Amino acid sequence: MFITLVGQAQCQEYNHFPQLSGATISDVVEAMSLEEKALIVVGAGLHSQIATNENGIIGDVKGRVQGATGSTNGLPKFGIPQLIMSDGPAGLRIDPIRDKDSTKTYYATAWPVGILIASFWDTTLIQKVGKALGNEVKEYGIDVHLAPGMNLIRDLLNGRNFEYFSEDPFVSGRVGAAYVKGIQSNGVGSTIKHFVANNQESNRLNVNVNVSERALRELYLKGFEIAIKEAKPLYVMSSYNKVNGTYTPESYDLLTKILRNEWGFEGCVVTDWGGGRDDVAQMKAGNDLIMPGADSKRKAIIDAVKNGTLEMKILDENVARILHVIIQSPSYKNYHFSNSPDLDDHAKLARVAVAESIILLKNDNNILPISQNSKVALFGCASYDTYSGGTGSGEVYSKYKVTIAEGLKNQGFENDQKLESVYLTHIEQDKIDFPRPKKTLGKVRMTPEKEFSMVDIEKAAIDNDFAIITIGRVAGEGKDVEIEEGFNLNELEKKQIKSISEVFHAKGKKLIVIINSGNTIETASWRDYADAILLPWMAGQESGNAIADVLTGSVNPSGKLTVTFPIKYEDVSSSNNFPGIPERRPKEVTYEEGIYVGYRYFNTFNVKPAYEFGYGLSYTRFEYSRLKLSSSKFDNELKVEVTVKNTGKVAGKEIVQLYLSAPAKNIDKPSAELKGFVKTVLLKPGESQTLTMTLRSEQLASFITVRSAWIAEAGDYQVNIGASSEDIKLSKSFTLNNELEVEKVNKVFVPQVQINELKHN
Ligand code: BGC
Repeated sequence: MFITLVGQAQCQEYNHFPQLSGATISDVVEAMSLEEKALIVVGAGLHSQIATNENGIIGDVKGRVQGATGSTNGLPKFGIPQLIMSDGPAGLRIDPIRDKDSTKTYYATAWPVGILIASFWDTTLIQKVGKALGNEVKEYGIDVHLAPGMNLIRDLLNGRNFEYFSEDPFVSGRVGAAYVKGIQSNGVGSTIKHFVANNQESNRLNVNVNVSERALRELYLKGFEIAIKEAKPLYVMSSYNKVNGTYTPESYDLLTKILRNEWGFEGCVVTDWGGGRDDVAQMKAGNDLIMPGADSKRKAIIDAVKNGTLEMKILDENVARILHVIIQSPSYKNYHFSNSPDLDDHAKLARVAVAESIILLKNDNNILPISQNSKVALFGCASYDTYSGGTGSGEVYSKYKVTIAEGLKNQGFENDQKLESVYLTHIEQDKIDFPRPKKTLGKVRMTPEKEFSMVDIEKAAIDNDFAIITIGRVAGEGKDVEIEEGFNLNELEKKQIKSISEVFHAKGKKLIVIINSGNTIETASWRDYADAILLPWMAGQESGNAIADVLTGSVNPSGKLTVTFPIKYEDVSSSNNFPGIPERRPKEVTYEEGIYVGYRYFNTFNVKPAYEFGYGLSYTRFEYSRLKLSSSKFDNELKVEVTVKNTGKVAGKEIVQLYLSAPAKNIDKPSAELKGFVKTVLLKPGESQTLTMTLRSEQLASFITVRSAWIAEAGDYQVNIGASSEDIKLSKSFTLNNELEVEKVNKVFVPQVQINELKHN
């Protein structure tokens, strides 16, 4: 086994060299030749097959974990093992079958996608999921998980939104931190990505993002900052795009001044796969590891040191930082992975997590939950071919996925047989006519919907107790979503919803719509036709079972939206500037909406959304009372206490949100911003819980560009406690007597162009 090659036997052979296990990192670095240093900072290549060569290099991904995304080079003479890396975030992405031999399989759990994980709003549960996921990373012999995706959801058309957490940096940061803590509790590394402002797939490799210092600090960097400070991920992946004229892996301002000097990051920065152009600039910026790596890149670094354009001292620092994370890896510790994580146990956790976090958007007259012995007319291709996750590097190869149709059957529902057979034949035929690739990137075909005549719908309404329509949308890396047929429903989808609704309602029967999508979709034009709407996003391998758990009421849903559902796409503040110009292959994108992203825009400018940020219903009701602030004057920190009571008839959990309205005498500010959230325990009917959230000085502060500082303005602040960003239940004020300069930071990322930022006042 390769692991033992790097272990004791190799060490003895090379024991006249300082060993990573015995010597200091600086001794090891000092003993390395320039060529060896270049081997460490440049990965082993996209299709590396090297096992050991005369230099003692180990660079074989395929030999150890097939389907892993990349590896570094090992240098056994110094006791330096190779690191193996693989993708996420909705699980571990490796090949399930090796060398066509299916007697032993390597399936991974398909967990819910990022945006659904965030919808838990329960950092304890997220950490638990992270822990189980990280166990698979470790037990399959991977050192570094290339996840979570922590880019802010700036525009709902970004093809990778399903991998990300939220339009709000506080949610992204807290959720990301919990996920990283869970993963890293196994002793493997997490990689928060893509740092930073990688908010679209259109020309993601080259697009230049023009963004103000304030929007960058308050929104795009903030989530990363929170996760880094709270969870200490071992790795950060720089992004492909440029920010204000510089490729992020080549930005000293980003990777050294902000990430390391201001935030205290002590890990390793790795490029996105093939990211950046100038290898030497990357070393200087503090992008330690170039992935996946190529000989030409090593040569560029060696030449630069030889011709004096790269100081050896800088290269030494890059190498040292990589060695610092290597010594924390399972490979370094000679961990004997089992290749058999407890997938059954993880499947149970996945099911519970999904069921809890599904968002109930509508439930007129409490038609849900429904009895499991009912007959269901199940419409929509995604009911039978459910999208469990997105495509691209975020795809996970699980042993199975439970479709919605299967999930319903598993719980005793009787699905209309005729409809089922029509759909299954239709989907099968589409897959024969348009074979789907095994691994997908970019645009992916979705089976077009099947049209049913009024006669067929009438028959279904006679034969069944209610109807379900699943609206399906897949998305993935490399391609943004279109407005038409992506965000908007197509004519056939709209027509079917209307007809099915009218025919079933005429018979006193109800219609439930399930949204199985990686992106926000249009709902306002058709939602009146539905009695209930469920949003499970893309829910992983247990999709169908978890959705059925919610339909039957065996789980009371308690997820809430971490993004806004607008009425129309044009209502989104970035819609005039997405994906940039020229539209087909944008070279430039300018964030003219500034700090007004998501609910910060909708609430401040009074634009009515279809469903607001933070929204989500329950099968029970909650009453909020006794809002208390620890003081009416702010001094360093302030405790906020509130009591929540379950006043309904079934047990449930509530997500309580704290929105702060700050004085805006000196600069423009959103009407309120989320600064705290907490989920209750499962409250029985009549039961209550008192919850506490803490406000710290940094949460009062805004970024004042002319001063390059985070400043909390003196004045009155209002604490709003709500069940969503619009549904504010209780408010109370406190005062900050004197302005606080919370932190002075570097003057960096000055935009290269004039940005006409949106202003409210
Ligand atoms: C993606 C990353 C991924 C990497 C390796 C890139 O194209 O942007 O998210 O980790 O590939 O697969």
